[in-house]
Amino acid sequence: MNKITLTSPFDMHLHLRDADMLNLVAPLTSKTFAGAIIMPNLVPVVDTKKAVVEYRNRILESIDEKDNFTPFMTLFFKPYTKEFLEEVKDDISAIKLYPAGITTNSDDGVQTIDTESLAPTLNAMAELNIPLCVHGETNGFVMDREQEFMSVYEALATAFPKLKIIMEHITTKDAVDMLDRFENLYATITLHHLIITLDDVAGGMLQPHLFCKPIAKRPHDRDALLKVALEGHPKVMFGSDSAPHPKHAKEACGCAAGVFTAPIAIQVLVELFEQHNRLENLQKFLSDNACEIYNIKPSSKTITLVKEDFKVPNFYEFKRERVVPMYAEKQLSWKVL
Ligand code: DOR
Ligand code: ZN
Repeated sequence: MNKITLTSPFDMHLHLRDADMLNLVAPLTSKTFAGAIIMPNLVPVVDTKKAVVEYRNRILESIDEKDNFTPFMTLFFKPYTKEFLEEVKDDISAIKLYPAGITTNSDDGVQTIDTESLAPTLNAMAELNIPLCVHGETNGFVMDREQEFMSVYEALATAFPKLKIIMEHITTKDAVDMLDRFENLYATITLHHLIITLDDVAGGMLQPHLFCKPIAKRPHDRDALLKVALEGHPKVMFGSDSAPHPKHAKEACGCAAGVFTAPIAIQVLVELFEQHNRLENLQKFLSDNACEIYNIKPSSKTITLVKEDFKVPNFYEFKRERVVPMYAEKQLSWKVL
C-alpha cells in the first residue's frame, strides 16, 4: 500500500502550552488531527470555568479555522463541588489528576490519593459522566513509579465503578494487564513509548529529547504496549503526550521532561503499523476507540498520507521559541498529503 486515508484522527493527550509556544505548536497538531484532549498544566493551572473558556479561545485563535480542529478541554484536578462541576461540565471533556510535584507544573496536584478524601469530587464526576485522566506515578524509584501506582488505580477503579478512569501514557506491562481486570479502566499510549526503551534514552549518549515522564521502560513493557495498540484493543487510545519545551530547556543541565512528537506522530504511526502488518487497526487506535470511550462524534475531517520520503526539520520556531521534534533530521517514509 502506498496511500492511506484516516478519518477523524484524535490525539487524546496533548500539551499545547500558551503564548508563543502555543502559536508555534498548535498548528502542527491541528494540521493533521481532528481534535485533541488538551492538558491543563499551565502556569497557573486551568482550574476555573473562565480559565477553560479563555484557554480554548486562545487555542482556536492560534490555528487556522480551515483545519477543522476541536480542542477538548480539561480541568486540573482539585477538590471541586458538584455545583461547580455541573456548571463547567459542558466546557470540558475530562479532569486530569496529577500527584503533587510528579511532573511539569504539577505542584498544585493531589498530595495523597486516598479514595475517602477524593470521594465527593469523584462521585460527582461519575454522576455527571466526566472521565478522570490520571498521571499514574508514585515518587518512588524512577523505573518502578508506574508499577507502584497500580494499587492506586485498583483502589480508584473499585471504589468508583461508574467513573471512567483513563490511565494516561502507560509504559508498563503491569498497566496493560490492568485493562482486562477492571471494566472502568482505559489507557492512552504515546508514540514514543511504542518505540523506545530506557536504552534509547540513556543506554548510549544521553538523549535529552527522549527524556520524559514516565520514563521509557524495558523491552518487554514496550512490546506489551505495542501488542495492544497494534491489535486496536478497544480500551486503548492514542495520546501523544507531545510535550514541547524550548530547545534550551531540553539541552540543559537539568533537562525538562517531555518528547515533542506532534509534527511527526501520524506519519510514524503509519510506518509502525505498516511494519507490523496491522494498518487495518490504526483507525481504531487513532479514533474509533476514543470516540467510544469519550462518547464523542468523529468529525468529517480525513487525512491522507502517501509513501514518500519526508525529512523531519532540525527544529520548529516561532518568534523566540524553538523546539526540537522526535526524529529531528531523520528521514521518514510516509508524508502527509
Ligand atoms: O514528560 C512529560 N512532560 N510528562 C508529563 O507528564 C508532563 C509533560 C509536560 O507537561 O512537560
Ligand atoms: Zn502529559
